[in-house]
Amino acid sequence: MRGITDSPISCLRPAPRSGGEHRTRPGSGLSSFRPRENVITVREERPDDAPAIRRVVERAFGRPGEADLVERLRLAGVAAISLVAVEDGDEADNESDGIVGHILFSPVTVEGRTPSIPALGLAPLAVVPERQRRGVGSTLIESGLVRCRKEGVGVVVVLGHSGYYPRFGFRPAHLSNLTCEYDSPAEAFMAIDLQPSVRAAGARLVRYHRAFAEL
Ligand SMILES: CC(C)(COP(=O)(O)OP(=O)(O)OC[C@H]1O[C@@H](n2cnc3c(N)ncnc32)[C@H](O)[C@@H]1OP(=O)(O)O)[C@@H](O)C(=O)NCCC(=O)NCCS
Repeated sequence: MRGITDSPISCLRPAPRSGGEHRTRPGSGLSSFRPRENVITVREERPDDAPAIRRVVERAFGRPGEADLVERLRLAGVAAISLVAVEDGDEADNESDGIVGHILFSPVTVEGRTPSIPALGLAPLAVVPERQRRGVGSTLIESGLVRCRKEGVGVVVVLGHSGYYPRFGFRPAHLSNLTCEYDSPAEAFMAIDLQPSVRAAGARLVRYHRAFAEL
């Protein structure tokens, strides 16, 4: 069995901890908060954000694969919810137009579920290394889930670190009888039900968009 770090859509790759940084608790919704002097705003991706998003995702993962994935999903027209975290202030990263984080949700298919209740997969999520552990990722997730609820999404799944996503309401997907098409430890595949749903009698397979297979 592959570890989550080997999975094509792992949502939390181990990285060295950077010590002693100031942390700011995130707010919720498409709101703003202030890490140190700079204000972070979460907003929807705009067409001219694409190059900056590419830089941010590449820098966060330290390789081009996830940035390529974002572009494939966008090109396929399945970047259902795509949000950026923009930093405004003296320390802002001008090269990336102040964009320091990005989150994407794309449709997944759930075997046996009626297509009228959309299901989305959260991936990838990226924050530039020098702005990590200040609440940017949390704010992107919370804002994304607010958007998902507004758009009537039934369930969001994520393949990632079981120590991170439960704080946003995700729980092991097997509790909702959902299994992932990719090999991963059971606790790494998580789901959050955003609408009341009837628990399926048998396990249902979740499939990501084919663009993930190339990662
Ligand atoms: C994962 C990531 C998006 C989190 O964003 P962030 O802004 O740093 O996260 P937040 O500040 O909101 O939350 C910090 C918490 O996240 C968890 N966390 C962050 N990075 C982590 C990592 N690499 N491994 C394990 N836990 C991590 C910790 O629990 C941390 O809490 P703590 O500081 O109290 O220990 C960011 O670290 C990142 O871009 N990493 C590289 C790319 C990646 O792995 N993306 C996710 C895959 S889709």
